[in-house]
Amino acid sequence: MPHFGDYQNEIYFAGLMGTVPKLPMSFRELEARAQQAMPPGILSYVAGGCGDEHTQDVNATAFRHWGIVPRMLVGAAKRDLSIDLFGLKLPTPVFMSPVGVIGICAQDGHGDIAVAKAAAKTGVPMVASTLMEDPMEEVAKNFGDTPGFFQLYTPTDRELAASLVSRAEAAGFKGIVVTLDTWITGWRPRDLTTSNFPQLRGYCLANYISDPRFKELVGKPPEQDPRAAVMTFGRVFGNPLTWADLPWLRSLTKLPLILKGICHPDDARRAIDGGVDAIYCSNHGGRQANGGIAAIDMLPGVVKASGTTPVLFDSGVRSGSDIAKALALGATAVGIGRPYAYGLALGGVDGIVHVLRTLLAEADLLMAVNGFPTLADLKGVAVPAGPQPA
Ligand SMILES: Cc1cc2nc3c(=O)[nH]c(=O)nc-3n(C[C@H](O)[C@H](O)[C@H](O)COP(=O)(O)O)c2cc1C
Repeated sequence: MPHFGDYQNEIYFAGLMGTVPKLPMSFRELEARAQQAMPPGILSYVAGGCGDEHTQDVNATAFRHWGIVPRMLVGAAKRDLSIDLFGLKLPTPVFMSPVGVIGICAQDGHGDIAVAKAAAKTGVPMVASTLMEDPMEEVAKNFGDTPGFFQLYTPTDRELAASLVSRAEAAGFKGIVVTLDTWITGWRPRDLTTSNFPQLRGYCLANYISDPRFKELVGKPPEQDPRAAVMTFGRVFGNPLTWADLPWLRSLTKLPLILKGICHPDDARRAIDGGVDAIYCSNHGGRQANGGIAAIDMLPGVVKASGTTPVLFDSGVRSGSDIAKALALGATAVGIGRPYAYGLALGGVDGIVHVLRTLLAEADLLMAVNGFPTLADLKGVAVPAGPQPA
């Protein structure tokens, strides 16, 4: 039975033939090398966060104050990292979080398609952002057997929201993720310093300009008047939803509905009462509000409030041990954000596949070494790091 950890054997054996990895093995090096490879405007948009970026930083560092106590003589020679999500059998508990500018992180400008191809190769699902450089229908054609999910930025125009969701259904996406924390853009000093906002420069609007309802709103073919298209996008993009809108959101689709950005247990409970199929605990990687609490520290409360409802998680995941800790704290599936964007910028489809394989290998090997053969064994084993009670 192959294991994700076998990736290390491939690397060591290739070394015997004189081949060392071209792509980085740690997040620190991945970030440093990707940042050298990316154009400044894209780099600032991807790497930057809100305010002084404290939340973004603690999202990652807070994993260090959680730990996993190893168990021995378990013989975890076989590990199973597969999950069942909405009846879908997935080979890994990992997914690629929606990254709106991923299209232009690729050197050929088709990053959304590259992510879809990486999903096909790895079985790690893509959550495709509303903000894509290629239309969702074209991207979905590249998923292979791996399911994809569509992330909706709910526009103010309800017909446009309905049109985007029904297109996602027709294109074969298996769930709709509604992001709640981005109806307005947070204060991002790096981008403000260079007046840099890619969408207002016409990037990543393919799902809008290909949409029949959006075309009606522009009043003329968007490709004939890109400026009018951008202005229309700016006008309709962000809808400050309230709980009163939840029944309408729910009515948009029979697909699983997932709410992204939930960090408070009461919000999780209310969303579940409103009929959502999963909670997505995330603080948007610290890009939206510099509130100061790491997402991983809010996860246990959200998991507890969610009962048997699946909880997706992201923000600050940089390693396989971070994945294991989030799973141990109760996440059903764990989202990778910036790391795969950097993998794409450095190495295209292969770069994303490499990043996912390194993360999965480390998580799998941690489970092997620490004696957790299944994800069920891992649940509940994360404890605050530091001296342990005798
Ligand atoms: C460049 C960039 C663009 C993003 N675009 C979106 C988006 O379109 N929709 C969304 O829901 N979240 C978006 N996110 C947030 C991610 O889905 C995820 O929550 C975040 O990247 C997690 O933080 P991390 O990358 O630091 O781990 C974006 C994140 C980045 C870095």
